[in-house]
Amino acid sequence: EQRRITVIRGDGIGPSIVDAAVAVLDHAGCGFAYDYVEGGLTALENTGELLPQETLDAIERNKVALKGPLTTPIGKGFSSINVSLRQQFQLYANVRPVISFAGTKARYENIDIITVRENTEGMYSGRGQTVSDDDTVAEALSVISRGGAERILRFAFDLAQREGRRKVTVVHKANILKSTSGLFLRVAREIAANYPHIETVEMIVDNACMQLVMNPEQFDVIVTTNLFGDILSDLCAGLVGGLGMAPGANIGADCAIFEAVHGSAPDIAGKNIANPTSVILAACQMLDYLDMGDRAGKIRGALRSVIAKGEKTTGDLGGTASTTEFTQALIEAL
Ligand code: NAI
Ligand code: MG
Repeated sequence: EQRRITVIRGDGIGPSIVDAAVAVLDHAGCGFAYDYVEGGLTALENTGELLPQETLDAIERNKVALKGPLTTPIGKGFSSINVSLRQQFQLYANVRPVISFAGTKARYENIDIITVRENTEGMYSGRGQTVSDDDTVAEALSVISRGGAERILRFAFDLAQREGRRKVTVVHKANILKSTSGLFLRVAREIAANYPHIETVEMIVDNACMQLVMNPEQFDVIVTTNLFGDILSDLCAGLVGGLGMAPGANIGADCAIFEAVHGSAPDIAGKNIANPTSVILAACQMLDYLDMGDRAGKIRGALRSVIAKGEKTTGDLGGTASTTEFTQALIEAL
């Protein structure tokens, strides 16, 4: 029986890079069937809703989705679709690996960092968001629960153990955010005690930013709360050649959504110049999740060879190829 994958092509550059990823999956012989559904601005235009019920049903049914970036309109009345998806399906772990590829314009060569970001609470709890009527005071509620902290920390240490990683850096701001970051850090110390063979380092978030730029090779697995993880993972993408190189998985107890770290890139949308590597690497994370690591390995190998050669890479990597030319070279390498 064919495995069915829910696909949301998304907004902006989404359709072009998601189509590239699906073509690569097919040429790698993954044998998936796809249920295409809509989300974001595209869905709003076609159905009047940012997140139609049909889309939620398809994610629920297939349990695995590949998703392009969605544009959330800024302004009153629109809560982020990405945040709602993550909360609705309790996709509490956002796993964002960055790894160096030869042939990019990155300043570093030996980066291999996995950021594990708490994905459902913290500053993105969505709770208590108010602005006074006279527009002079705004508030939002940051929420850290013991249960939420325990599950993400356990997830990060288990991942480190499973993948033979040596070190987990817990990034926090417990010196200032004493209640929220304080609880997160106390729980981190409790969980870390169960993994004595993994080195645990505690680091305050501002120092972590400086350390990531000055000496990124010291990092292995990073685990942190929602907002810090969002920001640090874009920083990490910058270490390996930019957002076009950065995939992410949103993982819950029985459901997972795979996507790029970046957004819909309106500045380059419709030009056929986006780098599809981010979504293709997300598709590889999906294959790992589905116990199809052999296919993932083949695709990563093909990516490595095409990017290293440099003849058919996109502008962000220093090349001149279009999205489709890059994808074609990748398919030939496969
Ligand atoms: P962005 O991540 O879309 O773009 C930032 C910069 O990176 C731009 O210069 C863009 O051209 C470049 N870039 C991004 N992906 C690229 C790729 N694959 N190849 C080459 N260059 C690439 O961030 P921005 O502009 O702040 O956000 C645009 C929209 O995306 C917003 O509506 C935001 O809400 C949404 N967004 C959605 C996300 C999601 O669906 N998971 C995540 C982040 C933002
Ligand atoms: Mg982000």
